[in-house]
Amino acid sequence: MKDGKFITLGIESSCDETAIAVVADGREILSNVISSQIDIHTKFGGVVPEIASRHHLENINEVLEQALAEAGDLSLRDVDLIGVTNGPGLIGAVVIGVATAKALSFATGIPLVGVNHMHGHVSANYLQYPDLEPPFLALIVSGGHTNLVQVTDYNRCEVLGGTRDDAVGEAYDKVARVIGLGYPGGPKVDRTAREGDPEAVHFKRVMLEEGSLDFSFSGLKTQALNYINREKMAGRELNIPDICAGFQQSIIDVLVHKAMLAAERTGADRLVVAGGVGANSALRTALDEACLSRGIALYTPAPILCTDNGAMIASAAYYKYQQEGADDLHLDAYANLPL
Ligand code: KG4
Ligand code: ZN
Repeated sequence: MKDGKFITLGIESSCDETAIAVVADGREILSNVISSQIDIHTKFGGVVPEIASRHHLENINEVLEQALAEAGDLSLRDVDLIGVTNGPGLIGAVVIGVATAKALSFATGIPLVGVNHMHGHVSANYLQYPDLEPPFLALIVSGGHTNLVQVTDYNRCEVLGGTRDDAVGEAYDKVARVIGLGYPGGPKVDRTAREGDPEAVHFKRVMLEEGSLDFSFSGLKTQALNYINREKMAGRELNIPDICAGFQQSIIDVLVHKAMLAAERTGADRLVVAGGVGANSALRTALDEACLSRGIALYTPAPILCTDNGAMIASAAYYKYQQEGADDLHLDAYANLPL
């Protein structure tokens, strides 16, 4: 405890960010340190799992020290709970966070809680909006997942739909690579699309069966590739901003349509956005307009809380601990972990 507040340490290492945060009473961020490996993986055009694990291992102790220091010179004695992502993610990367959390818990006696990374993304909203409580509808859009879920309680949700192939962030990253924008694709396409015309190059909107809340994004890469090859063969110069804007508009139209369909079907009057693609400026604007016209309250965390961070894991751990208690030192790491 510190100043009468319950202190949770949140550890996140499921992909290419080594991130540790300190959160008070599950809602107040005291520190949120994110050590990104983007520069390292950019050379390879995407995350190399083995390299990610090694860098987590090299950085995690320093990130921990920094997180405690930035929270107001805290020490482990002030920490009441350790929360850690234990899946889903790159298994070698998840293991580093879990092993660190278990070692800290074993050495200090601080209770330990494993957090599903996707619950973490949803929980970023509790940090941004102190009064937000379940139930609500959530659109989870990240590099590994695309889901519409009905969040019924802090630690419970019902999956309404998900992707049948690629995640939406994966589609962004793949298409960005094809058109030479590099890694990570999402933020680059987001920025480049602002200069383009979303009507100039048309990509299909893949809605699947009538009324389905599932998604499919794998065909978009092929569409982009075919378009680029066709243009090159015809000797025409590629307009990268127009391609980005058209591609992004196809994704946004599908996400907004399905989110509104889910809201209609569940009667939800609150929609929460979660995950890295939730940082996308055009998606946020489009959701804002769609929600406004239907009287749905929209929750969009600050971009830094949309992408991977330790604070969201701390918040999710705080509520899980209250409802289910601690995990023991047998806590395992999982590449796949259902919601
Ligand atoms: O949630 P996240 O940080 O990690 C996973 O759990 O996957 O999401 C990373 C994904 C990447 O695919 C990245 O390209 C995408 O989120 N992303 C964006 C934006 N910022 C990050 N996609 C579109 N627009 C953005 N501004
Ligand atoms: Zn994530």
